[in-house]
Amino acid sequence: MEAPTTVDGPIPDATELQDFLERARRTLTANDVGEFVKPGLHQYPHQWNWDAALVAMGLGHFDPERARKEVRSLLRGQWLDGMLPHVVYHNGSSDYFPGPEFWQIEQSVAAPPGIHTSGLVQPPLLATCVRRMHRRASDREASLAFVREVYPRLLRLHRWLHHARDPEGTGLVAIVHPWESGTDNAARFVQPLMQVTPSASQMPAYQRRDSDHVAADERPVHADYERFVYLIDRFRRWGYDAETMYARSPFLVQDTLFNAVAYQALEDMIALADELGEPTAELERWRVRLHRAYNSKLWDDEEGLYFAYDARHHQLVRENGVATFMALYAGLADRAQAEVLVGAHLENPDEYAPDARSRFRVPSQAKNNYFYEPRRYWRGPVWILVNWMVLEGLERYGYHDLAEAVRGDSLELMRSGGFFEYYDPRDGSPAGASDFSWSAALALEMLEPLPLALS
Ligand code: DGY
Repeated sequence: MEAPTTVDGPIPDATELQDFLERARRTLTANDVGEFVKPGLHQYPHQWNWDAALVAMGLGHFDPERARKEVRSLLRGQWLDGMLPHVVYHNGSSDYFPGPEFWQIEQSVAAPPGIHTSGLVQPPLLATCVRRMHRRASDREASLAFVREVYPRLLRLHRWLHHARDPEGTGLVAIVHPWESGTDNAARFVQPLMQVTPSASQMPAYQRRDSDHVAADERPVHADYERFVYLIDRFRRWGYDAETMYARSPFLVQDTLFNAVAYQALEDMIALADELGEPTAELERWRVRLHRAYNSKLWDDEEGLYFAYDARHHQLVRENGVATFMALYAGLADRAQAEVLVGAHLENPDEYAPDARSRFRVPSQAKNNYFYEPRRYWRGPVWILVNWMVLEGLERYGYHDLAEAVRGDSLELMRSGGFFEYYDPRDGSPAGASDFSWSAALALEMLEPLPLALS
């Protein structure tokens, strides 16, 4: 009998798969520097917010106590107002720019005393990962005690998001910097960023270090990077005052991906609150409002896509990128919207499905989008995180075969290329940072059930 096949290659036998998962575990262990797990061996030597959430979820598969430590370490960086920063610098400076000294968070009255962090947030994946860790934990009592311990911190983060970043009560949470989206240079930020126009005299001195370990043509272009740095300079001058940042940041976007992650997190927060016997009315209110606003403001019926909204210039940013599918991940789309997203876009070989020149699902930018570049950071490469979110969404809406195809692609990319930050959708060659922790963590999350399915 022939071996079962995925869309793109043979499924490895159980021993081979076990060996692959062992390599994923070893990647996480090798990046463990004690206080936290580095997102990547060389490129990212500090603790990043959504990386840490995913790493904890991965660690939860084999070392629940270490997983909890990862979450506690991240939460040590939480600001007094609830903001959870996108980077925590537990070990001071390194060869990564920007280091702690660039942020000058001591300008803020809300900065946590005695710990170095950035002054921006990141997609709030943490509650989702904590809930998944808890569901899986075999040491139920320790796990429940941990959830009880961290829940108030998670609640403060979400309260901060729904107040500081939505002071007008629109229902959608705004970001003030592309780094807050976690998908820095995605095409949906090009237009809003073009309106950010620093003069030479307004630019602080800095030296870019992100292409020391990764090829420059796989990283954001200089014009974007200048603006990333300029925005940080504005914020530190404003002492990271949340009201001023919302009112005056030249970049203010209600993002598809960020809000989908925030929405899914609310669902997970409500489940955790139920288990702890905590009230849920506040969470429910944010959830209902976010759902309504997401569909009334971000859905474009003509294109059959969700788009980010430039809240500073009051317009949708009509760029077709993978963030549109996050509505499936979070269950924000209705059945008809899901059919359009999958049938007209995800399955379209000109956009996200394989074609003669491009073997792998799901490029981060539609292939027929003007800004598509198959090896440049968020402009086209396949990301394992995106694949995971897309396959979660496909399963939620009952597209099981397609979900399996995405899982099969992910497995093939990581088995043949190793645990990289991203992959070229044309041939699957790895790109970006090597030994990338969240790819390894998600290998465990996506593939651990497979041996059972094979037996
Ligand atoms: C980077 O340095 O590339 C990060 O995305 C910023 O957090």
